[in-house]
Amino acid sequence: MPRPTARPRLAVYPGTFDPITNGHLDLIERGCRLFDRVIVAILENPDKAPLFPLRERARLIGEVLKSTPNVSVDTFNGLLVDYVRRMGAHVIVRGLRAVSDFEYEFQMALMNRRLDPGVETVFMMPAEAYSYLSSRLVKEVAFLGGDVSGLVPPTVARAMAKRMPDRAAGGKRRGGKGSR
Ligand code: PNS
Repeated sequence: MPRPTARPRLAVYPGTFDPITNGHLDLIERGCRLFDRVIVAILENPDKAPLFPLRERARLIGEVLKSTPNVSVDTFNGLLVDYVRRMGAHVIVRGLRAVSDFEYEFQMALMNRRLDPGVETVFMMPAEAYSYLSSRLVKEVAFLGGDVSGLVPPTVARAMAKRMPDRAAGGKRRGGKGSR
């Protein structure tokens, strides 16, 4: 089998990132050591009602990663493999925190392989300290007035506090439903 010609190793790290957590950042750092460039690709998913609109998620990630030279931030919609191909990449990076992630990730990786056999999914494990961390839990903790420092970058913690002012200030919940 002929050896592939040398080309920049480019990887796409896709996700919802609502919001980006320190676990995601840990994975991006690891990805940057393996690949020449990592594109953090934020899914635009009109079906979900995110805490942060797409542009705000992209702005926050850009801010947090501004000193990391080989990372870029982008948004996408539609099929991930189509986006990966458009970017000229062949690798998707995904994180595996625990066995519970495995089934969903395995299904996605195999579906993506079926859609484009030229795209490989590479799984990486974040530091153990982040193995329980998810955007969903971080939002729940913040919503209920808990401390999210150390779980998300300070910029993100501040942005979350602005979106949940009464809770983040440690006060009682004022609104009824929908005061997310
Ligand atoms: O952070 P998330 O929500 O676990 O990321 C999920 C994501 C964005 C990787 C996944 O939903 C995705 O790739 N969506 C794009 C649509 C797609 O390609 N679907 C078919 C392959 S499973």
